[in-house]
Amino acid sequence: MIDDKLYEAINQQVTEEYAAAYLYRHLANEMDALSFPGLCEWFTAQAAEECEHAQKFAQHIIDRGGRVKPHTIEIDAPEVEGPLEAFTAALEHEKKVSEQIRTITRLSDEVGDLESRPLLNWFLNEQIEEEANVGEIVDQLKLVGADGSGLLRIDARLAGRPTPPPSAQ
Ligand SMILES: [Fe+2]
Repeated sequence: MIDDKLYEAINQQVTEEYAAAYLYRHLANEMDALSFPGLCEWFTAQAAEECEHAQKFAQHIIDRGGRVKPHTIEIDAPEVEGPLEAFTAALEHEKKVSEQIRTITRLSDEVGDLESRPLLNWFLNEQIEEEANVGEIVDQLKLVGADGSGLLRIDARLAGRPTPPPSAQ
């Protein structure tokens, strides 16, 4: 059986991952509204990946004999002026998620829950990758600034990112 405090934290993370999906879906819509179809595709794929993350945590709870309790999803999703603002918001969000994963990992250590470690290690690694990927895009967007052809090149490069099929991760 899973420790109560650890259960609550993992269960909360299911909602947090769906909140990230909701935020990225919003940013996809914003990129679509601002005529950046490639960036819209990138955020759409990212939103799908966050739903997969939510399910990974949910599956862990179920596999260990628990039930998933959904919580209210609340996001702070403002209108954005352009791609740099959208990806900066994404980077900030990923940093927040990294801290959430670290907090759950510390808690799992505290209660000596060895079984959750493979899952949490996967997420710790995933967060390194997420922050690096989004950070690179933020750097490139800063480099091109308001240059239209530079922005369109980034838009073209980030188009066509494959959406993960359910449970492929
Ligand atoms: Fe995630």
